[in-house]
Formats: sequence, C-alpha cells, structure tokens
Amino acid sequence: MTALLKPDQTGITEAAALLRAGKLVAFGTETVYGLGADATDPVAVAAIFAAKGRPRFNPLICHYPDPASPFSHVIPNTLAERLAEAFWPGPLTMVLPRRPRCPVALLASAGLDTLAVRVPALPLALDLIRAARVAVAAPSANRSGQISPTRPEHVLGDLGGRIEAVLDCGPCPVGVESTVLDLTTPEPVLLRAGGVALEPLEALIGPIGKESPRAGPARSPGQMESHYAPRLSLRLHATEVGPDEALLAFGPPLAGAGTVFNLSTSGDLIEAASRLFEGLHELDEAGRRLGLARIAAMPVPQRGLGRAINDRLTRAAAPGRDQK
Ligand code: TXA
Ligand code: MG
Repeated sequence: MTALLKPDQTGITEAAALLRAGKLVAFGTETVYGLGADATDPVAVAAIFAAKGRPRFNPLICHYPDPASPFSHVIPNTLAERLAEAFWPGPLTMVLPRRPRCPVALLASAGLDTLAVRVPALPLALDLIRAARVAVAAPSANRSGQISPTRPEHVLGDLGGRIEAVLDCGPCPVGVESTVLDLTTPEPVLLRAGGVALEPLEALIGPIGKESPRAGPARSPGQMESHYAPRLSLRLHATEVGPDEALLAFGPPLAGAGTVFNLSTSGDLIEAASRLFEGLHELDEAGRRLGLARIAAMPVPQRGLGRAINDRLTRAAAPGRDQK
C-alpha cells in the first residue's frame, strides 16, 4: 500500500523520515511530481529505477533545499552562479562536474562524472528536502513510458503499491519538467526545454547551444550513449575467468579470479544495480594498476533491474559506438 500523506507538518515529518530510512516517496514540485529517494543511498537510488521499470539507467536530478547547497556536491562556474542567483528556486536544472568527494550515489549520475542539480520552487518540496537533511534524487514519478504526473492521483494511479508514500502537494503549478542546461562545456547547451524559457536564460548568460535530439550524437541521456565506459575492455557472459582478467561477479564468484568485485553475493538485482558503477570504476583502476587485460563480467539475469544492468554492460563492452 502506498500512503497518501497530508501536506502538513506531520506529513512532511513522516515523508522525511521515510526518505532517511531509504524508502521511496513521491512529492510535488512546481514542475511535476518527483519520485524521491536519499541521493546518498545507492540502494535507495537503485530502487527508483526498479519502481519506474526503466530499461536503462538515465542519470537523475538531485534536489536541494536552497541555492547554496548544490555547490557542495558540484563545482560551479561563473555562469552557474549567475543562473543560481537568478533562477533558483525554480524550474532550472544545471549539469555540472561532481566534486571529488561528492556523496551522491554514482548510480544517480549513471556513472558520469557530472550531476544534474536543482532547487525546486514549491515551498512544500523545499520543506520536505530540508526536513530530510539529504539531497533528494528524483526523476518524474511515472513508470517508464508514461507521461509525467502533475497531481497526486496520477502518481497513485501509476506507481501505487510500488512506492512507500506520496506527499500530497496538490496540482503542480508549472506542469512541464524543468529546463536542463549542460554547463560543463565552454558554451552552455540546452539538453531539455522546460519550465524556464530560453530567452531569459540567454539574456543573462549569452548564447546557449541547442542540440536537436536527432542531429548527431546528443549529449542528453535517453538519446545519448556516452555514459561511463571503463578503459579496460569488458567481456560479457563470463563462465570462466583467465589469469589476466578482473572479475565483475554476480552471485557466487567464479573460481580462480584474483581481483573480484561482487555486485551482489546473494544475487539481489537492486543491490547489484546500486554497486554497478562503483564496481566498474574499481575494477578498471585495479586492472590497470595490476596490468590486467580486461574485465570479465558474469551473467546477470535479464529481469527487473537486470535489464538495465545488462544494457549498461553491453554498451560498456562495445566502446566506440558509445563515445561522444
Ligand atoms: O522538473 C523536473 O526536472 C522533474 C522534477 C521531479 O524535478 N524531474 C525530472 O526528472 O523530469 P527526469 O529524470 O524525468 O529527467 C531528468 C533529465 C533527463 O533528461 C536526464 O537525461 C537529464 O535530466 N540529466 C540528468 N542528469 C544528467 C547529467 N548528469 N547529464 C546530462 N543530463 C542529465
Ligand atoms: Mg521523466
């Protein structure tokens, strides 16, 4: 059962406690309802993908209670600082480089070295994030392939029974998703048109590149394939492991492996998803340090989050096709 929590102090306190306990709570923002989880808890972030039934890991937006907080997790530049001052709280998301010790789960960045951050403008959303005392990762609160919800009933209809609670924040005033800007390139790039129009953004920071989803390799995930790929090559469906290979294990590891990262010894797909990017990074590092030839990945079942894990591994195994 999914609880519908009232938009009062009791509801906010309960929703915040659920988030802190690693549960999924949908909440309203000025744009659309978000499916929130503690962004620093990798298993909670993996549970978002499981509840949405996303066939692949798209990076998620992290939500903060005030305009200064995001910059403890990402590195701003002058343009980002100006945009934050002018448009936060509000429907603008900025993609910026993660700080070296950023505590947000790598899965929320889908393994990228960037993070999308925003400060929503709905007071209830800010109260909730403040009460949770963690950054809140939240994609739109709909199952994969459904339209974004703008009322609590939409969320209950689509995700009821699959998440812990919905904080009733009434209808969303803006009703379209936030504008997503990539600020990691010399000229900022519009990744998604949304709640803040382009004109006031360009009036403040100058020209913004517009990428058509169909023209060339787009940078916006969903359309793009340029997620993290390890530098070592990757061999899939490994049923034995060679002396020159590091092993990405799932379940009981293959005999004979020297360097092993186990996604989940018990074969839990949510745990495996929560550890996937950490595992690829770690084996890549270790493998290069030890002069190994490649990473061998044990098979992961093609169900639940296994689909998204296999999607990521398949693309990591075929670089080139995958690069920007
Ligand atoms: O209004 C909104 O933005 C809502 C509310 C809940 O905040 N959230 C939302 O999240 O629409 P979602 O996950 O449905 O869309 C996030 C968008 C996607 O297009 C995703 O690819 C992009 O932001 N994105 C997130 N992180 C990114 C990154 N590191 N680099 C590039 N694009 C990123
Ligand atoms: Mg969405």
